[in-house]
Amino acid sequence: MREKLSYQCQACGAQASKWSGQCPDCGEWNTLLESAVAVPRRSARGAQLHGVAELAARIVDADEVAAEAEGHKPTGIGELDRALGGGLVPGSVVLIGGDPGIGKSTLLLQALAAGGDDERPLYVTGEESLRQVTLRAQRLGLSTERLRLLAETQVEQILALAARERPTVMVIDSIQTMHTDALQSAPGSVAQIRESAARLVQFAKQGDTAVILIGHVTKEGAIAGPRVLEHMVDAVLYFESESDSRYRVIRAVKNRFGAANELGFFAMTERGLREVSNPSAIFLSRGDSDVAGSTVTVVREGTRMLLLEIQALVDVSQLAHPRRVAVGSDANRLGMLLAALHRHAGIATQDQDVFVNVVGGMRIAETGADLPLLVAVVSSLSARPVAADLVVFGEVGLAGEIRPVAYGEERLAEAAKHGFKRAIVPTANKPRRAIKGIQVTPAAHLGDALALLK
Ligand code: TYD
Ligand code: MG
Repeated sequence: MREKLSYQCQACGAQASKWSGQCPDCGEWNTLLESAVAVPRRSARGAQLHGVAELAARIVDADEVAAEAEGHKPTGIGELDRALGGGLVPGSVVLIGGDPGIGKSTLLLQALAAGGDDERPLYVTGEESLRQVTLRAQRLGLSTERLRLLAETQVEQILALAARERPTVMVIDSIQTMHTDALQSAPGSVAQIRESAARLVQFAKQGDTAVILIGHVTKEGAIAGPRVLEHMVDAVLYFESESDSRYRVIRAVKNRFGAANELGFFAMTERGLREVSNPSAIFLSRGDSDVAGSTVTVVREGTRMLLLEIQALVDVSQLAHPRRVAVGSDANRLGMLLAALHRHAGIATQDQDVFVNVVGGMRIAETGADLPLLVAVVSSLSARPVAADLVVFGEVGLAGEIRPVAYGEERLAEAAKHGFKRAIVPTANKPRRAIKGIQVTPAAHLGDALALLK
């Protein structure tokens, strides 16, 4: 290796040979910092030395590779496996990001302790001392017979030990504390994080060790520093929660080995994280009293149904351009729905500020929330509560028509299970057979649906 001086953006990790005030890649200002980058001596000449025959031998039939293709190995924590698409794949790298204090270390300590008898887990801690980790494991009552711990932040050391130890799963807590000797820049810098991660990824790919990198999230929401980390790994999970809520949601934003849409749910307790395998009603906060501006809907998250409360606050605006604020749903879509509400149901909100919030910090990405959102808006505007035992779902089209959503019957069944007695749904979602305990009223048009509320 030889060293070359270059400049690196501390926001996106891009390299530049010259300094400039603005990063040519991401456009951030004053983020280019001098960094010593190791340039491996290799390629051109090295490649020529290989005979063509030797190179040809490196090309293999896809069949042969597929024969030993990845199998997910369950971690022993069902909700984590769900987000991972079935479990950990040997030789893969997973990045788990989240705010400090959300429970990343706790979750992975629990996951390593829950592994089967054939697992050889290694927990590398760069943030807490061995004593702190052991005390936590004891307090959580974890079985730590097979769990091996290492307090180290230097990647070369870790890899040398891991090569000897050959763990089946290795957790790096956290990638921000790691550094490599190959670079001179300070630990914690983008270059260090990226290079350390690259070496760990290379290690995972060469063997059967599944590597889990823990990463802290910056205030911008990206896993601290280099977004490039997300591209280097096989799966990226985010661990999130609403402030002051004890519930935690783990979400895959990328997964090379499985679907990236399943959520895992946990509750933080004094005995660590507890799985919530039936999360459908955990975000419902309201009691039995009827509240103006609040509607309950059923959305499909992954393969499960979730009951969510949508709140709206509509109030006379003092502004020339009244505010449209959507938390947990799409603000552009809110604007569009309010226009449909005006044109097709004659309800104007031009002189009103409209705030919409999905309770519990969840994000709704599906169109089934259109109708309940407008029901909440109308309820707030008219100061008339929606019945507490009513659920609503349905997409609203630009012509004011109510369009069906997928899995209508499953949604209704879930609502009935949680004691909802009435539902307003798109006509095409009316179940062929009655669902016990819930009276379903179909609506074909926005006007019909709103009339049903009276
Ligand atoms: P931690 O796993 O250290 O978070 P991270 O690694 O993401 O920074 O979790 C720390 C928080 O979790 C801390 O505020 C205390 C809380 N906690 C509990 O409530 N119960 C528990 O059993 C444990 C271990 C932590
Ligand atoms: Mg931690």
